[in-house]
Amino acid sequence: MIYFILLVLLASSAIPVDCRHEVSIDCGFSGDDVYYDPDTQKIYAPDAEYIDTGANHEIDESYVTGQPRQAQNLRSFPDGVRNCYTINDDVIQGDKYLIRASFLYGDYDGGQRMRDGRNPTFDLYLGVNFWQTMNITDSRHLYISEMITLASSDYFSICLVKSGDGIPFISALELRQIDSELYKDVNQSVSLQLSERKSMGLDKTIRYPDDDYDRIWRPGYTSCAATCYSRDVRRNSTLLTTTASVEVGSDDAYKVPSEIMQSAAVSSDGNTLILSLSNGDDVVMAPMFYVYLHFAELRAPKGNESSIFQLSVPGSRPSSINISLKYLEARHIQLIHQANSDPSSFYLHLTRVPGSLPPLLNAMEAYSYANLTRIPTDQGDVDAMMKIKRLCHTKWQGDPCVPVQFAWHETKCSFPISTPPRVTSLDLSYQGLKGDIPAAIGNLSAITYLNLSRNTFTGHIPPFLANLNSLQTLDLSGNQLEGSVPIVLCNRRANGSLRLSLEDNPCSFQGICVCNEKKQKHTILAIPIVVAAATVIVLLSVFFLRGRRGKKEPSKRQPKWRDTIGSSFHTGSPHFTYQDLRTITNNFERVIGKGGFGTVYYGRLHDGTEVAVKMQKRFLAIEEGITEDFMTEELGSDSHGIKEFQAEAQLLSRVHHRNLVTLVGYCKDGHSLGLVFEYAAQGSLRDHLSDKNNTGEVLSWRERLRIAVDAAQGLEYLHKGCKPPIIHRDVKTSNILLSHNFEAKIADFGLSKAFLTDAQTHASTQAVVGTPGYVDPEYHSTYRLTEKGDVYSFGIVLLELVTGLPAVLKFLEAGHILQWVRQGLAQGTVADVVDPRLKQRQQQCDMFSVRRVVDLALNCTALNSNERPTMTEVVKQLKESLQLEIATESSTRPYGGDLDVSQSGTTATTSISVTEMSGPSAR
Ligand SMILES: *[C@@H]1O[C@H](CO)[C@@H](O)[C@H](O)[C@H]1NC(C)=O
Ligand SMILES: *[C@@H]1O[C@H](CO)[C@@H](O)[C@H](O)[C@H]1NC(C)=O
Ligand SMILES: *[C@@H]1O[C@H](CO)[C@@H](O)[C@H](O)[C@H]1NC(C)=O
Ligand SMILES: *[C@@H]1O[C@H](CO)[C@@H](O)[C@H](O)[C@H]1NC(C)=O
Ligand SMILES: *[C@@H]1O[C@H](CO)[C@@H](O)[C@H](O)[C@H]1NC(C)=O
Ligand SMILES: *[C@@H]1O[C@H](CO)[C@@H](O)[C@H](O)[C@H]1NC(C)=O
Ligand SMILES: *[C@@H]1O[C@H](CO)[C@@H](O)[C@H](O)[C@H]1NC(C)=O
Repeated sequence: MIYFILLVLLASSAIPVDCRHEVSIDCGFSGDDVYYDPDTQKIYAPDAEYIDTGANHEIDESYVTGQPRQAQNLRSFPDGVRNCYTINDDVIQGDKYLIRASFLYGDYDGGQRMRDGRNPTFDLYLGVNFWQTMNITDSRHLYISEMITLASSDYFSICLVKSGDGIPFISALELRQIDSELYKDVNQSVSLQLSERKSMGLDKTIRYPDDDYDRIWRPGYTSCAATCYSRDVRRNSTLLTTTASVEVGSDDAYKVPSEIMQSAAVSSDGNTLILSLSNGDDVVMAPMFYVYLHFAELRAPKGNESSIFQLSVPGSRPSSINISLKYLEARHIQLIHQANSDPSSFYLHLTRVPGSLPPLLNAMEAYSYANLTRIPTDQGDVDAMMKIKRLCHTKWQGDPCVPVQFAWHETKCSFPISTPPRVTSLDLSYQGLKGDIPAAIGNLSAITYLNLSRNTFTGHIPPFLANLNSLQTLDLSGNQLEGSVPIVLCNRRANGSLRLSLEDNPCSFQGICVCNEKKQKHTILAIPIVVAAATVIVLLSVFFLRGRRGKKEPSKRQPKWRDTIGSSFHTGSPHFTYQDLRTITNNFERVIGKGGFGTVYYGRLHDGTEVAVKMQKRFLAIEEGITEDFMTEELGSDSHGIKEFQAEAQLLSRVHHRNLVTLVGYCKDGHSLGLVFEYAAQGSLRDHLSDKNNTGEVLSWRERLRIAVDAAQGLEYLHKGCKPPIIHRDVKTSNILLSHNFEAKIADFGLSKAFLTDAQTHASTQAVVGTPGYVDPEYHSTYRLTEKGDVYSFGIVLLELVTGLPAVLKFLEAGHILQWVRQGLAQGTVADVVDPRLKQRQQQCDMFSVRRVVDLALNCTALNSNERPTMTEVVKQLKESLQLEIATESSTRPYGGDLDVSQSGTTATTSISVTEMSGPSAR
């Protein structure tokens, strides 16, 4: 009974949380583990998991310099017409994604083809839809193709297709989920392919972490490094930047990074700013374009000056619109236009209106409309074919039926007008297939022709074949099939609706079907099977209870997750059995922690990876021999622990950030609930601050700052990267774990609680949660739970980092670290509150830097939560402090102060691409 309850609880616990997730694949990377790329600040995975064809290559050494790490190797596809990557980690049907494919040729094949003047050209497909033809003309150039689209199923398939001369290759694939309110134009029938995305006022490329969504913004006026456009029109303009923040509407649909909105290009002649979009390497010309222009007035108004200018597109209707800007307020203008004739170039004029300031532009994006509306094959058929593919080791790639020219040879399909294509015919003869006839065939419900002849299939003729109602031809001849033939098939053969071939099988006699006369047989068989299964379950549970009390040798069986482990980092969470966990932990030998939830054990995976295995409390009850009756009762009355467990498992499987502990897997096996985490070799931050490890080693100020930045980033992700935001609710130094190289990772989501709806700004809870010393005093009085509660707790963490003291002080009347610090600062200086161990060290810490962090901590712990900064601001300030510290340590000039509004005399060129348009429409 208990099994049943557990399963129901586990199945019905849908927590409405949705963290933006992402997949970064380094194609052709031959390592077997993921790596962190400090340049992009993302974790990249090798691609073997996502594709089973192609060959890995390195680019030529002479091309490596200056290229991102992912572009230094590639996978090429000399064989087969179509080769596909399948990305199914957490893809959610209907959600919006940015998909980016990168290609760097780099003479990986010795450059022979390029020298012959035969450019590699091939086609890129997103699923069954054509995306783009890649025409690689420059072996040094990193070609990037980017699409914003809705997921039409729960996976993405990215296919490289031979066309013309070239051998397809690919360097990297990146998938980024983006908020649904961004790029509202994108829907089921509209996808956008990037032509250009430029920040006009900056001279550097911006992407993650400045851009939450990892969009790449190129500098507008130096775009001509490797990607010179044929019609590069240089115009005079001046750059403008400000440190004042630009206000963005709460429902802003573009979320342009603030640094970009704080800078702009201004026409230097004071009158006109001309943008040209012209046909170039990376620019895709299409009949329909979406252009987004991003503006913010950065010049404080003087007197009666206004900020209005005219936007005009020659040849369009209406030919111009007036745009007025407000000081430090973001405004976005969208143009949709259709090409009439020659789609080779396109101009936009921003013209000054008399009495107004000269026109400016902060950023622009241009996308072409992509028609990705071709319907893929029926999902059930695809799933079944994928299972069959795995069993048969065939080289099937992509969709079985669509597009027709790439349909699998062994299949034939029907193409109904308004519903997805169906697989109607499957010929697997002479494939050397062994074992049982794959059960997945039973799911090809539209199949009319099935040929499995001349293999070595064994066992019985499976009854599911009788459920394929459309089947007209079934050829099973030349196998090792035994037993009787399902009666339904015999009947259909008898009435002429099915052509059934069974020659050359042990079950046939001279080609005559031996049909089973006894219809009852299956039901009779079924009862003993049920009884037998029940017995096995009972025996197993007895064995479980016994086995754990008596010390049994850990099983030598190879755990079944063997294939997925180690790569689970990016593929979601493999499921462990209880037995697996026992093996991993060497019979739960070493306890490394205890929490409200249960006990944490040290473990080692099959491949040597160290893990922490967190077992739910109930498991301990079993360990101690408490009876099953009691357990059932406990379960009925108190499902709190299980819910918490589920909360954690669900959250963690949706959350991917390098500053949050990674869930390697979980176990919901009978009574046992367990979570398997990556192991934090250096233990908790609390242990290090209190020197519980007795190493005598003191974390330096710089190390502490880095830990603070890491932890703050993890929290920021929970607050900003998840929708609805996740509030941790138990931020404390003992929940900040340190990896072997002292990278901080936030742990313990057991108490995390996602907001239920977007509209809610706070969630209410019945009871006070958290750990004494860290709980927001405002929460104590209001029971309102907001992100600011985490900010408060993080402020306490910062004070612990500065002082080295715990949050609650045993040696003081005052009792709390915050009061202690406030008193200390009131009576002395920051040097009086800083951890004395830091002062003893040779490399003394910079008191200025410490002071900044103390100030930040005091802001975070402001009594009124409105006065506390957000985690985004905290991250920003801590990063500045860290940079300052690094600069001081390396005794170079300290990090520069704030910039004032300034005009640099740089001459800027803006080159955009596009076509003729029929009319701009302002939003
Ligand atoms: C690829 O680009 C080159 C140079 O722009 C051009 O000559 C060639 O025709 C293009 N090939 C294809 C297949 O578009
Ligand atoms: C998608 O948006 C376009 C306008 O941009 C609209 O015409 C179309 O009907 C929408 N399609 C769907 C399926 O919502
Ligand atoms: C840029 O400005 C200079 C002087 O301000 C002018 O001589 C030159 O023609 C301008 N260039 C363009 C392309 O407008
Ligand atoms: C734009 O403003 C100018 C000057 O104020 C005016 O002459 C013109 O009619 C306006 N155009 C539109 C389309 O409103
Ligand atoms: C702005 O004010 C000045 C005097 O303060 C006046 O001469 C000028 O005409 C005004 N400009 C506009 C556009 O109203
Ligand atoms: C998209 O392509 C399909 C054919 O694949 C076509 O029928 C449809 O009209 C196209 N839609 C647009 C808006 O171009
Ligand atoms: C057949 O499809 C159903 C759902 O459509 C699925 O649950 C089942 O696992 C499939 N069976 C096989 C053998 O693929």
